Amino acid sequence: MKVTHQGKSRHYRTVWFDKASNRVRLIEQRLLPHKFKVVSTADYRETARAITDMIVRGAGAIGAAAAYGLAQGARAYRRGGLKAFERHLAKVHHTLAEARPTAVDPLNAMHGMLAQMTGDTVAERQQQALTAAEQFAEDDVAHCEALGQHGEQLIHEGARVLTHCNAGWLAFVDVGSATAPMYAAQANGKSFHVFCDETRPRSQGAILTAWELAQQGIAHDIIADNAAGHFMQLGEIDLVITGSDRVLGRTGEVANKIGTYTKAVLAKRHGIPFYVAIPLSTIDWELESGQAIPIEERDEDEVLSAWGVTPSGRRQQMRLANPSSNARNPAFDVTPPELITGIITPLGIFKPRQLWKHRAKLGQAATIC
Ligand code: MRU
Repeated sequence: MKVTHQGKSRHYRTVWFDKASNRVRLIEQRLLPHKFKVVSTADYRETARAITDMIVRGAGAIGAAAAYGLAQGARAYRRGGLKAFERHLAKVHHTLAEARPTAVDPLNAMHGMLAQMTGDTVAERQQQALTAAEQFAEDDVAHCEALGQHGEQLIHEGARVLTHCNAGWLAFVDVGSATAPMYAAQANGKSFHVFCDETRPRSQGAILTAWELAQQGIAHDIIADNAAGHFMQLGEIDLVITGSDRVLGRTGEVANKIGTYTKAVLAKRHGIPFYVAIPLSTIDWELESGQAIPIEERDEDEVLSAWGVTPSGRRQQMRLANPSSNARNPAFDVTPPELITGIITPLGIFKPRQLWKHRAKLGQAATIC
């Protein structure tokens, strides 16, 4: 999307690949909104570390980062034959797959790539890896644009939309999932208002979604996580749109940022439609139960403290909590299908339990990735 930085506007993607240097380039999301910086990773291990440390985050963006990381690792292979190349690639795949466990997009991206790397020589497979990674990134953008067109109809003139965490363009290669209907509605001349849940502990809503919406000139307010029920009770929220890190095709269960389940319960209580917007790479067709989704538990320090910027512009960590207390920090939760009005996909809006019935269509398009 367009970023206005130091008075200049330029189009950026969150992640891209530089063929000449074999480096993955990433927007350093931990510095936003205070500083806009692009960083690069020298090898696949650094790319995996950038995913773990959340330089790049969000299901689609880490899917693309993993895809480029796999291509990066494949292209760095210099010696030996096809068998040794396959062993090397298995190690690269393992490292990238382990970087963050909950989002399925990195696994789907790399799975799709490996299926396309069928050449007879190492050189052919290296080229196929790069082509497939670029294709995944292009598909991610195309899927987000297409789902935006389907979701746009849900945003009526004057609508007040709640979103949680950041499922904007920073969470994908471009455009975003939850934000795609918003950007499409804006392009169609609609005015509407967005409530951004702050999304503790890492505050992706207050930091990233609010920055994105401000950059695009969309009216919004940041609200504390605990305020959403109050605004629903007052009749100030018309619909909720979130993203997801993994939607189970078999059951319609949705894993997303911690706090999503709470918002879905509240929405149900108040009769407010609750939608989840995803590209097809976010569907997991294998798992049979939401209980089997690996929920990442991150460092307790994220809950016990907060990061901010001093008046002089220095990024600083502040301890918030009682010094002798420990914390639990699950990064995601699982929302059951009965709380979800619809899943907004590039191929239309589906009831969560109908995904399985449409798996031929949805699954086939996903494997293009
Ligand atoms: O921990 P993050 O920032 O990578 O988590 C991202 C989310 O959970 C977002 O809420 C989003 O909806 C899913 S990623 C598109």
